[in-house]
Amino acid sequence: MKILLLNGPNLGRLGVRQPGVYGHTTLAEVVDRATDHAATRGASVDHLQSNHEGVLIDRLEQLDYEGVVINPGALGHTSYALRDAIEGIERPTVEVHISDVHAREAFRHVLVLEPVVIGQVIGRGVDGYIEAIDLLLDHLAQR
Ligand code: DQA
Repeated sequence: MKILLLNGPNLGRLGVRQPGVYGHTTLAEVVDRATDHAATRGASVDHLQSNHEGVLIDRLEQLDYEGVVINPGALGHTSYALRDAIEGIERPTVEVHISDVHAREAFRHVLVLEPVVIGQVIGRGVDGYIEAIDLLLDHLAQR
């Protein structure tokens, strides 16, 4: 069972970017933790971070995975292209936001992927990625 873990724009700088908001954990550490956690449940993780919407969509279109965990970054507030891609792949997808976007600026309250994801984990820090993997694997196990 393979999970695709995607991180969108600016998340490559996790750990150094606004640590007061996003914490001190680097993206490499997040991916390691996610990979180790998924392995305890018999799943593997393929990870991609990109600052480019089209690169994320190209990866989604490869369809070599059972489900997706995605932190779309700011694309989660704006990208109908990403929303269409997630709707089109017909693979269960869980959206993660490290920070509590609902408690931040108004533009972050709009989550355009919401109608096409099976769940959202918001404001749980980087542990949210682990929660998202569990949500996704529980969903896949029930099918
Ligand atoms: C984020 C929240 C977004 O609003 C922001 O643009 C990000 C990170 C988060 O994980 O909290 O880049 O997705």
